Amino acid sequence: MSLGLLALSYLIGSLSFIIGLKMLSHPDTARKGNLYAAAGMTLAIVATILLYSDKEGNSLHNYGWIFAGLIIGSIIGTLAAKKVQMTAMPQMVSLFNGMGGACAAIISLVEFNHLVHQGTDVAADPVLTFTILAGLVIGTVSFAGSMIAFGKLNGNLGDKTLPLQQIINIGLLVVIVLMVVAIGLGFFGPAPVSMVYLLLLISALYGILFVFPIGGADMPVVISLLNSFTGVAAAFGGFLYNNMVMLTGGILVGSAGTVLTVLMCNAMNRSLLNVIVGSFGGNKSGSSAGGGQGGSYKEISLSDAAVLMLYSKKVIIVPGYGLAVAQAQHICHELEKVLDANGVEVKYAIHPVAGRMPGHMNVLLAEADVSYDKLMDMDEINPEFAHTDVVLVLGANDVVNPAAKSDPASPIYGMPILDVEDAAHVIVNKRSMKPGYAGIENELFFRPKTSMLFGDAKDALTKLVSEIKSMG
Ligand code: TAP
Repeated sequence: MSLGLLALSYLIGSLSFIIGLKMLSHPDTARKGNLYAAAGMTLAIVATILLYSDKEGNSLHNYGWIFAGLIIGSIIGTLAAKKVQMTAMPQMVSLFNGMGGACAAIISLVEFNHLVHQGTDVAADPVLTFTILAGLVIGTVSFAGSMIAFGKLNGNLGDKTLPLQQIINIGLLVVIVLMVVAIGLGFFGPAPVSMVYLLLLISALYGILFVFPIGGADMPVVISLLNSFTGVAAAFGGFLYNNMVMLTGGILVGSAGTVLTVLMCNAMNRSLLNVIVGSFGGNKSGSSAGGGQGGSYKEISLSDAAVLMLYSKKVIIVPGYGLAVAQAQHICHELEKVLDANGVEVKYAIHPVAGRMPGHMNVLLAEADVSYDKLMDMDEINPEFAHTDVVLVLGANDVVNPAAKSDPASPIYGMPILDVEDAAHVIVNKRSMKPGYAGIENELFFRPKTSMLFGDAKDALTKLVSEIKSMG
């Protein structure tokens, strides 16, 4: 009876993940989708604790430890999620992703120790041993890599490349694969405990070295790849325990992360192989000025910017990380409404890696109730710039850097960008001439069509809106 109820809870949990994931694909339903999936997960956890029993009919014990862990984890998670700034969300996602990888690795370690304590020869059931080792390796790589990604996104760590980085990374990968095969086939004896801990260390080293050198603008690919690793590692855990809900959840995260990785690779014009071997982007020298070596730029006053936009037929807004930093999404929507009321057509150009996490700009603008129909993907909007009077770049930098097209030495060379220069005028709002995430100068700022509107995005937009209102 209780096993039937447990299976039913797992079925409901699995369905809620699938429905929740589907709902996450649209901003209108995303919040609800997240809640459905969280409710499904809660049901699966509670049902496992209360209803699970093994073949001999023994149910779980150690309830004190289980509930202590659940309560402490829930308190930490809730406080962290409530306190985190919107701009620090990507770091937090990396941290949580790393925790998922660590859990999968710990499950594998515990199960390996069970085998050893039962006196089972690891070579007796190679499928079981490979499943344990795969969860251990992938979970550890995901944990170690996510911690480095956290440090980089948080600004604590820079890009570091060892000499012969690619060869070291490939070498470590080969060692990991050979060790897994050798342990699974019993080459190190029936209970190779020290070898398994060595494998754990080498996997952690690979995770660190694989993410460390990745720099420039290439972090989005790595973040989504690490995300899919955690999903795959969790799926191995589900396979190990024959637990359907864990398997479904892991497969969904793994496949969604893989799809996202492919999309990010396309957006950055990088090959996946390059990512897995590591060390792209950050190890290229790159010209700091995208070939233009600085030069002179011109500024535009608020009133001139207001006039230019008010008398335009079409304005395209390019949001970037700075818009999120300034929390200027609401006033940005206000600007759109004011221009719209004056007969100006306004659209938003969304670059796939603008901001610091996948979908960052969509989430940010959805928070300010910007209509989803106004958000245009890069491929859709690029041909429209040529028929646009003014492009307003708001706290974006790398995603509009022409060096990506023109400077083969640039770390972002090859990344598709928004073709803002095809428009008649480009107004760039940022606080200074400082570079963006990739750390390189942007020649766009020095081009004849471009005018700089310096200042914090919220402040500048607030003044711009009141200027337009006073004229309109
Ligand atoms: P960035 O290239 O990082 O440029 C952001 C710009 O915003 C900066 O140049 C900064 O200039 C300006 N800024 C900061 N605070 C501001 C404020 N309060 N008001 C106005 N401007 C402000 O941003 P992007 O164009 O969105 O590109 C994203 C970059 O992050 C890409 O390189 C991408 O690869 C990388 N990345 C993306 C992700 C994902 S998944 N989206 C994840 C990790 C990394 P000032 O300091 O002069 O104001």
